[in-house]
Amino acid sequence: MDAATTLSDRKTVEVGPVVLLGAPGAGKGTQAKELVESFGIPQISTGDLLRENVAQGSELGRKAKAFMDKGALVPDDLVCEMVAERVKRADCVRGFVLDGFPRTVAQAEWLNALLEAGLFENQASKPLVVVNIAVDYNELLRRLTGRRSCPTCGRIYNVHFQPPRVPDTCDVDGSKLITRKDDREEVIAERLKTYERQTLPLTDYYRAKGCYVEVNGSQPVEKVTADTMKAVRR
Ligand code: AP5
Repeated sequence: MDAATTLSDRKTVEVGPVVLLGAPGAGKGTQAKELVESFGIPQISTGDLLRENVAQGSELGRKAKAFMDKGALVPDDLVCEMVAERVKRADCVRGFVLDGFPRTVAQAEWLNALLEAGLFENQASKPLVVVNIAVDYNELLRRLTGRRSCPTCGRIYNVHFQPPRVPDTCDVDGSKLITRKDDREEVIAERLKTYERQTLPLTDYYRAKGCYVEVNGSQPVEKVTADTMKAVRR
């Protein structure tokens, strides 16, 4: 895609499956929203889907809540079933952005098998690209403790780096911003430990598969977006 490509062109190109990998707070959700906006493909955030299930009090939500509240991963079978149901919907036919999935080697193996089996009939899908957004530990802590989000439109803010124009208020729809339950310091520490133990090994896993690109996630949002877009256009 060149610089002259129009927004409507971008919304018809085939992108294929994109995995955004990275620690809690690395900016996966922020960058996923940029890809959605640029390419018109859906963001599939397992964290958002699980939080929706918790809020609705579904059976999945009831099972997932205890794990999420303490910063642990929800069991693979529950998460994979939820993802399988979502990626088979028609809006994923040109591609989709997986934000927060896979998070274990078992989930990655499951995803490979699903993609190899083919999601849609007659689909000539582009191969998987995995973008790892790398950010150091102290920066992650600052980002997570400062994060606020809009419960209505999902826009993400940060009191330190990307504050809303009016404190605690969404710029887009005026909703009162909220702090995620798992952004308390004790839960953040557990989430970062869980990441190191269970998700970090995926960087070597995908590097070995040849579909891995690392971007420096400590740069300003716009620069991370430019690097992520470059990786996705591959
Ligand atoms: P999930 O919702 O996926 O949370 P996470 O991985 O911990 O990631 P976050 O949403 O906290 O961070 P992010 O990388 O999206 O960063 P963001 O863009 O918001 O998962 C929650 C829980 O669900 C898990 O703990 C687990 O229990 C369960 N779960 C989910 N998926 C699962 C799976 N596959 N298997 C099992 N369990 C699963 O940015 C963070 C902040 O930084 C924001 O304030 C933002 O404004 C700011 N920011 C972003 N980029 C920049 C930048 N470049 N410069 C400055 N600030 C920035």
